[in-house]
Amino acid sequence: MDRFDIEGGTRLEGEVTVTGAKNAALPLMAAAILSSGTTRLKGVPELRDIDTMSDILHAVGVEVRRAADGTLEITPTEESLCKAPYKLVSKMRGSICVLGPLLAKRGRALVSMPGGCVIGVRPIDLHLKGMRALGADLELDDGYVNATAKRLTGAEIYLGGAFGSTTLGTCNVMMAASLAEGRTIIECAACEPEIVDVAAMLTKMGARIVGAGSHRITVDGVRELKAVEHEVIPDRIVAGTFMAAAALTRGRITINGARLDHLTAVIDTLRKIGVSVEPADGGCCVSAKDGLRATDVVALPYPGVPTDVQAQISAVLATAQGISIVTDKVFPDRFMHVAELNRLGVEIRKEGSSAIIIGKPKLRGAEVMASDLRASAALVLAGVAAEGKTIVHRVYHVDRGYDCIENDLNRLGARIERTQEDPKELS
Ligand code: EPZ
Repeated sequence: MDRFDIEGGTRLEGEVTVTGAKNAALPLMAAAILSSGTTRLKGVPELRDIDTMSDILHAVGVEVRRAADGTLEITPTEESLCKAPYKLVSKMRGSICVLGPLLAKRGRALVSMPGGCVIGVRPIDLHLKGMRALGADLELDDGYVNATAKRLTGAEIYLGGAFGSTTLGTCNVMMAASLAEGRTIIECAACEPEIVDVAAMLTKMGARIVGAGSHRITVDGVRELKAVEHEVIPDRIVAGTFMAAAALTRGRITINGARLDHLTAVIDTLRKIGVSVEPADGGCCVSAKDGLRATDVVALPYPGVPTDVQAQISAVLATAQGISIVTDKVFPDRFMHVAELNRLGVEIRKEGSSAIIIGKPKLRGAEVMASDLRASAALVLAGVAAEGKTIVHRVYHVDRGYDCIENDLNRLGARIERTQEDPKELS
């Protein structure tokens, strides 16, 4: 297990380039199951979650290899294998997006129930509702979703839940409906850019999809889909993380490849507290000076502030003047970063699905524990900004979603060293 030793108190300055979006790449990789040839995905980041998805695809008879130019080549080779086992699915909830493609293409899927995780309970009832509506027979056996269908049939499906729309649920139903007989209408579909990207690749493959990016998606099923080449969209959450890095360290970062149209709510929030965000050639330049102001933030489904940057923005607000209230309406329990940020001298109190943050101009280094992907990113950024030394334990969480974040941050002036942890020190 690795840890980061950070000598903090640095102002970050320079340029960084955003990688392809993990949360688009995962369903895109699963979509390769829908064809019989080799799908070529460009811009897939090198991350632990991508490796986990490759392992899952391997388990269901799909070969994944990275070509010399970085393209991920994905080829189904053994269609009789349909089991996504617990030991892989439990590593990453994104694994659930193989359910729709397996069912639609092979008529059978045996996918482990993902279970909860530190950011919340995370049920999959809406995924199951969608598959049932398309005519699948579903049973829950020994912790597995056991699903069969001869050929799925189009249907009208309302996919809203207690916390709004579902991103991967929408992807799953859209992928399955692409090979179903007849028309599917998904109401209360999620609108995230990652869904638009998946719809774009499916369309190239021959699918007939209208409305991706809106709350109503119409899919007219086709008999078969062909393998294509596709470039993954830039990661808006990685871009948002570097925006937070510039704000937190009162630095100036040019973020190449950031899609500003995917980040309007984040940009609006940052500008409100006094951070400058200026479009630059193919990206943006984010800079901040002392004197940031507190504000209230609510994480909502797209196009609202993403829950995936809630922790990073909270870290920024911890250094702003005044009291901020940050609420997460997508994952109301996603506040694992609060206790750890408090170790850095921050004053945050959790009340229900909100964090009340009393801003302090300076953070102090401390030893902290990474708990989940984005909480960990927030801790790393806070450590870079804090005076003195910060140690972040269990950085494998960060590695799930950022390709060696320490290298990018060090190029911007941070002083982060990755070292191997002695497991005994953590017990
Ligand atoms: C995706 O998860 C992302 N993961 C998450 O990113 C992200 O936080 C989330 O969307 C919200 O934007 C991937 O794309 C791999 P949801 P997903 O279904 O699709 C509830 C990160 O940090 N719900 O949109 O699983 C759910 O509990 C990760 O990169 C149901 O009630 O999230 C939540 O409250 C973490 N029933 C809300 O809906 C369901 O069947 C939205 O979740 C499904 C979801």
